Amino acid sequence: MKNKVAVITGGSSGIGEALAYKFSQENFNIVITGTNKDRLNNVLSKIKKNGVSCEGVIHDISSSNDVKKMVDISIRKFGRIDVLICNAGISIRSLFEDLDLNTFEKLFRINFLGTVYSVKHSLPYLIKTSGTIIGISSLNGFIATPTRTAYVSSKHAMQGFFDSLRLELKRKNVHVMVASPGYVHSNFRKNTLKSDGKKEGASSRDNAKMMSPETVADRVFDGYTSKKRDLIFTLRGKLAHLIKNWFPKIADYLAYKEILNERESLLKNY
Ligand SMILES: NC(=O)c1ccc[n+]([C@@H]2O[C@H](COP(=O)([O-])OP(=O)(O)OC[C@H]3O[C@@H](n4cnc5c(N)ncnc54)[C@H](OP(=O)(O)O)[C@@H]3O)[C@@H](O)[C@H]2O)c1
Repeated sequence: MKNKVAVITGGSSGIGEALAYKFSQENFNIVITGTNKDRLNNVLSKIKKNGVSCEGVIHDISSSNDVKKMVDISIRKFGRIDVLICNAGISIRSLFEDLDLNTFEKLFRINFLGTVYSVKHSLPYLIKTSGTIIGISSLNGFIATPTRTAYVSSKHAMQGFFDSLRLELKRKNVHVMVASPGYVHSNFRKNTLKSDGKKEGASSRDNAKMMSPETVADRVFDGYTSKKRDLIFTLRGKLAHLIKNWFPKIADYLAYKEILNERESLLKNY
């Protein structure tokens, strides 16, 4: 994979960070992005130990101009993009009735429009290399859960965008893969926003029982090399996909129960 370039949005933490290490171990040159300079520099110094070149871009993924900056910097430094991983994302845990619309829109701009901007600005270069676009979606890309309306709808939108784009790019030889992990141990839940837009700061779930970001990164890399269309993680995820399609009322019942039983569930008094 020498001289190939992977651009990873949200590469400063969690799944994106693990993907950056994995792709650099496989000799990709790396571009990672994030909002926090210190976190980004910390990851860059570890990537360099794998003997590849790397670049960090501090930006806000929800701004098209900022995302164009990521692509311009990648092309200026490396001259090509082989893999784009649309990973940056946040969540909100709130009853929809209580949710501030600005907070809803903020999430949508990061999770969905950030993905759209990343693909839009990188696409000419990905077509040149017959490259790959990887969307880090979620089981919530096809399964609904209560108290996560903004997150669920942003991931459903991502899924629809990539499914449509994949067909459109058929004759351009660009591979499009959607990866849908279940619960992953990262800063994701601490960064989850509440109805007022402030961070939760603590996890509503037991992190110890979750998949590690490194396992996600290994599976994504395997999916990339074998040109998978979709990656649904865990047997539970695959069963959930099946139940959702064939027995939607059972899926509704299970999803409601799951959220009702989480720590400090917002459904308890609703
Ligand atoms: N963790 C899970 O259980 C889970 C499950 C399924 C899917 N996912 C998906 O996996 C992806 C990564 O999540 P994670 O678990 O790795 O969470 P994380 O540890 O919180 O990492 C999120 C990454 O996104 C970046 N980011 C957030 N807002 C941004 C913005 N406005 N502009 C640019 N970058 C921004 C963060 O950068 P800074 O830290 O610098 O802000 C960070 O690098 C998300 O799309 C999420 O939906 C996660």
